[in-house]
Amino acid sequence: MLLDTPSSVLLKPLAFITAFHEVRPLNPAYVERLRQKVRAIGVKPYPLSVTPEGVLFGGRHRYEAFKAEGITECLMHIAQPASLDREAIELNRASEDALPMSFVDYAEMVWRKQAADVTQKTIAEELGWSREKVRDFATLAKIDRRAWEVVGATFRVSALAQDEEVAPSFGATAPFTEGLLRNILYLTAEQQLDLVQDLASGRINKNKFKVQAEGYRTRNAIADYVRYHLGEIDREIVDEATAEVMRGAYDAEWIAFADDGIDPPKLNRLVEAARARFAEKHSLILIQGDFHAEMAKLGEASVDAVITDPPYRISTDRVYRLANQADWNKNFGAWDNPPEGEFLADIRRWADAFFRVMKPGASGFLFVGEPSLNIAQALFDAAGFEIKGSFFWCRSNPGTSVTKADFMPAMDHAIQFVKPGARRTFNYPGEPEGFNWFQSPICGGHERLKTPKGETLHPTQKPEAVIRHLMDLITLPGDLVLDGFMGTGTTGKVARDTGRRFLGIERDAGFFAAARARVEG
Ligand SMILES: C[S@@+](CC[C@H](N)C(=O)[O-])C[C@H]1O[C@@H](n2cnc3c(N)ncnc32)[C@H](O)[C@@H]1O
Repeated sequence: MLLDTPSSVLLKPLAFITAFHEVRPLNPAYVERLRQKVRAIGVKPYPLSVTPEGVLFGGRHRYEAFKAEGITECLMHIAQPASLDREAIELNRASEDALPMSFVDYAEMVWRKQAADVTQKTIAEELGWSREKVRDFATLAKIDRRAWEVVGATFRVSALAQDEEVAPSFGATAPFTEGLLRNILYLTAEQQLDLVQDLASGRINKNKFKVQAEGYRTRNAIADYVRYHLGEIDREIVDEATAEVMRGAYDAEWIAFADDGIDPPKLNRLVEAARARFAEKHSLILIQGDFHAEMAKLGEASVDAVITDPPYRISTDRVYRLANQADWNKNFGAWDNPPEGEFLADIRRWADAFFRVMKPGASGFLFVGEPSLNIAQALFDAAGFEIKGSFFWCRSNPGTSVTKADFMPAMDHAIQFVKPGARRTFNYPGEPEGFNWFQSPICGGHERLKTPKGETLHPTQKPEAVIRHLMDLITLPGDLVLDGFMGTGTTGKVARDTGRRFLGIERDAGFFAAARARVEG
């Protein structure tokens, strides 16, 4: 016993115990066996261990059995040990009643303490362990819960299979050790579960367990290589390639690659084949849906550039009546008119969404109404982008001022932003194209999409020439370009025409159909 303060044994009511200091979970099967013993031979003669404040730290299973049998008082050993944990563990070990402590119990105790913000240093001091040992037990928390339960169950089964009274060689038949489990720490939950189930059921032995864990580790590393080279834009294709890896055909080549840096040609062919499928399937992806919902499905760091033209929030209900002409109005529709406070929050959410899916070094242009130009720059800056400045599309035919009371706006604005972290593409075109403005008429003629009735289909269709200019500046052929608010698909059409891949999102069914016909047709 480790008790270092005076102690006494007294007959006390069970109700004296008001709290528990537990170092391992209750085992209901064991409580049940103790109840049978209590019924057969009465209250056991040795006392429960309790602090003067009524905290039970030794005899938890007996306590439960007494309570369940309606026993109201028993002998209690009242003491205040220096470390309740250490004392409780020693009592468990020494008590003929107790199931012996396994590393499973110890590990769970370490996790509970860590969850209660006890440092590894303090845990080591309390248990008389080295810091390394505490750390090793703490890392067992990486094992999937279901696999861990299988491990714990093997201990319970083997303990119950021992002598009724004592189980000193507890664990002799349980195959798991803390060291063995370290082999599976970094495997997936499914792999961990597979392996522990196989070992627990005797389908494999410990040696095979280690060999198979090693095989899984190798294949997981290969799968990481494949994912790294493919990006994650299409989970289905990536999953197909990694499933192929899991069949084991690339292990030997990978080991040579990892050991000696020998290029893995077979594996690279797999990556190339997946890329080809990817390009074939995804050279032009058009999605009808809400920007945020669809963006959330895209893989992180998967697009090379963004050229997008979201709502500006400049719609008004004002209608200008002109003699001998159709009414002229600036009501673009509900899509351009979110409630007041939501617009700034929206811009910030766009920035976060773009940031997540852009590759480091990827550039973007976001068109924005003049009143929001600086705000958008500040919000994109706050999201982590590097702001490169503004770009102006100078309309060479802005139209005539209706009121003649103000300037006729002839400029459209975009912010230029870059996700930091790698070299960016900027194909400087010389002068004057290298200036931050570009002159082009608003789109008209054949380019302007019309409804069957001959009306303008989309009020803010961008001219291809402007988008083409931006595309040439910040992308290379083969790049994946994203437009989260594609409208009639101008960015997609330009991407297709210039050999870029494209991913476009549009919520409105009518605009989406038009974009589809234009980009895919
Ligand atoms: C300024 S327009 C884009 C016009 C486009 N550049 C073109 O050339 O046709 C913005 C588009 O974003 C769409 N939109 C607005 N909010 C959206 C959202 N939450 N998700 C997807 N599309 C949205 C609107 O329907 C509208 O067509």
